[in-house]
Amino acid sequence: MEISFLTNKEEETIKLGKKLGKLLNPGDLVLLKGELGSGKTTFVKGIAEGLEVTPEVYITSPTFSLINIYEGKHTLYHVDLYRLELEDIEELGIWEYLGNGIVVIEWAEKLIQIPKKDFIEIIFEFIDYNRRKIILNGYGEWKELLKVLERDVV
Ligand SMILES: Nc1ncnc2c1ncn2[C@@H]1O[C@H](COP(=O)(O)OP(=O)(O)OP(=O)(O)O)[C@@H](O)[C@H]1O
Ligand SMILES: [Mg+2]
Repeated sequence: MEISFLTNKEEETIKLGKKLGKLLNPGDLVLLKGELGSGKTTFVKGIAEGLEVTPEVYITSPTFSLINIYEGKHTLYHVDLYRLELEDIEELGIWEYLGNGIVVIEWAEKLIQIPKKDFIEIIFEFIDYNRRKIILNGYGEWKELLKVLERDVV
């Protein structure tokens, strides 16, 4: 199951993230892939909106903090693997967070194993300054669940 969207500005990427955010529940895993500045963190802002994280909370890339935790309807664990080495990634203990919240991972290309069969993979492609192609792939139960998003086009 693969669906793709073209967003023409930042706000449209946020809107798409928000739609996904509304569908997420604790235990859900979202892997974000794509080059620097392709819109991963922007999309996470939308996920946070969809999870009703207080709008005043500014969503930033956890590049330095490694994991940002946001409280909304459910707890959102926002991870960025960009600066990490393989052994650091293992030490992070990311998968334990799935026990009580939603885990969203930027630079998921760096993962060598995924401990779940149900997850969403999202690939961000830079088209031009304001346009991005966003491809969503659903695995396991998400094959069907993602269809809700497809019907509800940006
Ligand atoms: N259609 C669009 N969707 C998302 N972001 C856009 C779009 N058009 C322009 N932008 C701009 O592109 C930038 C995307 O940055 P963002 O931090 O979301 O990327 P990123 O993929 O998280 O990068 P990094 O790998 O450095 O963490 C922002 O400055 C945003 O304003
Ligand atoms: Mg980022």
